[in-house]
Amino acid sequence: MDRPIALVTGASRGIGRAVALDLGRTHHVLVGGRTAAAVAPVVAALPSAEPFVADLATDPLPALPDRLDVLVHSAGVDSSGRVADTDRAEWERVLGVNVVAVADLTRAALPALRAAQGLVVAVNSGAGLTASPGGAVYAASKFALRAFTDALREEERGAGVRVSSVHPGRTDSDMQQEKVAGEGDEYDTRYYLDPASVAAVVRTVVDLPAGGTVETVSVRPTRIRGR
Ligand SMILES: NC(=O)c1ccc[n+]([C@@H]2O[C@H](COP(=O)([O-])OP(=O)(O)OC[C@H]3O[C@@H](n4cnc5c(N)ncnc54)[C@H](OP(=O)(O)O)[C@@H]3O)[C@@H](O)[C@H]2O)c1
Repeated sequence: MDRPIALVTGASRGIGRAVALDLGRTHHVLVGGRTAAAVAPVVAALPSAEPFVADLATDPLPALPDRLDVLVHSAGVDSSGRVADTDRAEWERVLGVNVVAVADLTRAALPALRAAQGLVVAVNSGAGLTASPGGAVYAASKFALRAFTDALREEERGAGVRVSSVHPGRTDSDMQQEKVAGEGDEYDTRYYLDPASVAAVVRTVVDLPAGGTVETVSVRPTRIRGR
C-alpha cells in the first residue's frame, strides 16, 4: 500500500462522508458505517477504499491494518430533551456511541497508530464546549469525548501519536435536519456549515507537518439564526 491509510467512522453520511471523500484524494480510506449497503457508494466513489462495517456500539470490530495514519471518529448520535424527561436508556445509548465506542476503537487501533506515528481526529461539537438547556445528554457525551481526547493526547505524545479535537457548529446533515425538525424551525441551509467545510478543517489538521498538532479547533457557521 503506497498511500497512507485513514479510517473514518460514520462515513456513510454527513460529516464523515465528506471527510472520507476529501481524505480519499490522498489516502486509502476504510469507510465506516453500520451496513455494507450504506458504505458501498462512498467506497465506489474513491480511488482507493474499502468498507469498515460495524455497529460500533454493539458489534465486534472488523480487522484493523497493521499501520494506521489517520483515525477520524465521526460516527455519533444526537439527543435532545430536558434532564427531567430523559431516562437511563437514553443516557446509555448516547454515551455508548459517542464515548464508549470511540474509546474501544481507539484502544484497538493504538498499536497501528503508534506504528505509523499517526493522528486521531475526534469530530466533537460546539456542545463539547458549552451546554444548553435540553442538551444535557449530548453535551455530556461531547464533554466526555473532549476529556478523552485531552487525556489521550498527553498519554500518546511520547509515542508520536497526535490527537485533535474538531468542534463544528451546526452542519447540514441528516442529524441537523432531525434536530431542526424537533425544534419546530424551518430548515434553512444558510445557518449551517457545509459538511465539506468541516472536511476542509479536518484536511488542514491532517496535513499539518508532524512536528505540530492542531489540538482543538472550532468552526461555526458565519450566520446564526436570530443574530
Ligand atoms: N450535524 C451537526 O450539526 C453536527 C455538529 C457538530 C458535531 N457533529 C458531530 O459530527 C458527527 C457526524 O454527525 P453528522 O451530522 O454527520 O451525523 P449523521 O448525518 O446523522 O451521520 C451519522 C453517522 O454516524 C454513523 N453511526 C451512528 N451510530 C453508529 C453506530 N452505532 N455505529 C457505527 N456508526 C454509527 C451513521 O452510520 P449509519 O449511516 O449506518 O447510520 C452515520 O454515518 C457526530 O459525531 C456529531 O455528533 C454534528
